[in-house]
Amino acid sequence: MIPGARLVILGRQGAGKGTQCVRLSRHFVVPHISTGDMLRAAVREGSPLGKMAKEVMDAGGLVGDEIMVGLVEQRLQRDDARTRGYILDGFPRTVPQAQELERITDDKPIDVVLDLEVPRELVLERITSRRVCRDCGTNYVATGSERGPSICDVCGGDVMQRDDDTPEAINHRLDLYEEQTSPLIEYYEKIGKLMVIDGVGTPDAVFAQLVAAVDGARRT
Ligand code: AP5
Ligand code: MG
Repeated sequence: MIPGARLVILGRQGAGKGTQCVRLSRHFVVPHISTGDMLRAAVREGSPLGKMAKEVMDAGGLVGDEIMVGLVEQRLQRDDARTRGYILDGFPRTVPQAQELERITDDKPIDVVLDLEVPRELVLERITSRRVCRDCGTNYVATGSERGPSICDVCGGDVMQRDDDTPEAINHRLDLYEEQTSPLIEYYEKIGKLMVIDGVGTPDAVFAQLVAAVDGARRT
């Protein structure tokens, strides 16, 4: 039987967290819990949370800790996460969120925190050429020769640029990452949970390093 896993992935916007989580989720047979995807689903539904989140996300800001902690706490109580584990993408993003995650996972702590390291200049390039399916979230890379939006190979939805992938919002998100999220690297290093992974390389090469890191951390 394939053992489950309880994982957190950190990394700058555009580091490849979403890309790798799709693969990790299949490999360890655990749900990929992306708080960004949860918020984008709320935006599509037009719920009160979605209306509030859209404004914050489009400006590249962060949704409040209390709301995010509530969302994640509820999601982690579902059967799939309770039995097999999960991979958290986009949460925690601040030290208070990390402290709350410790409380929530008190009975079954996180196995390992993976920090996907990619320099700022390279993530800027990656985000600029990212296109995403509005319906299923599949990522594509724009080549520059496209005329208008294209159709998703997976679900047939519209493939477009994300609303928060404007130059202003990207820069603001990256600044907030340095300010609010990068302190988590030290936070997890201090409690011996951090594994730093070089996120520069082909998606296959990065994936192999991530799997080796998780397997290694579980053997110790
Ligand atoms: P979220 O959806 O989490 O966005 P993000 O943090 O900006 O991260 P990205 O999704 O941009 O990057 P990624 O690392 O997943 O990169 P990807 O795999 O797509 O959050 C959105 C917003 O929601 C936040 O700004 C905030 O407002 C709010 N929010 C969410 N969680 C919150 C929280 N906890 N608290 C408060 N607010 C919260 O890859 C990028 C591109 O690179 C793709 O085109 C991909 O194809 C390409 N690529 C990937 N890997 C490689 C590779 N190895 N080589 C070459 N290209 C690659
Ligand atoms: Mg993502």
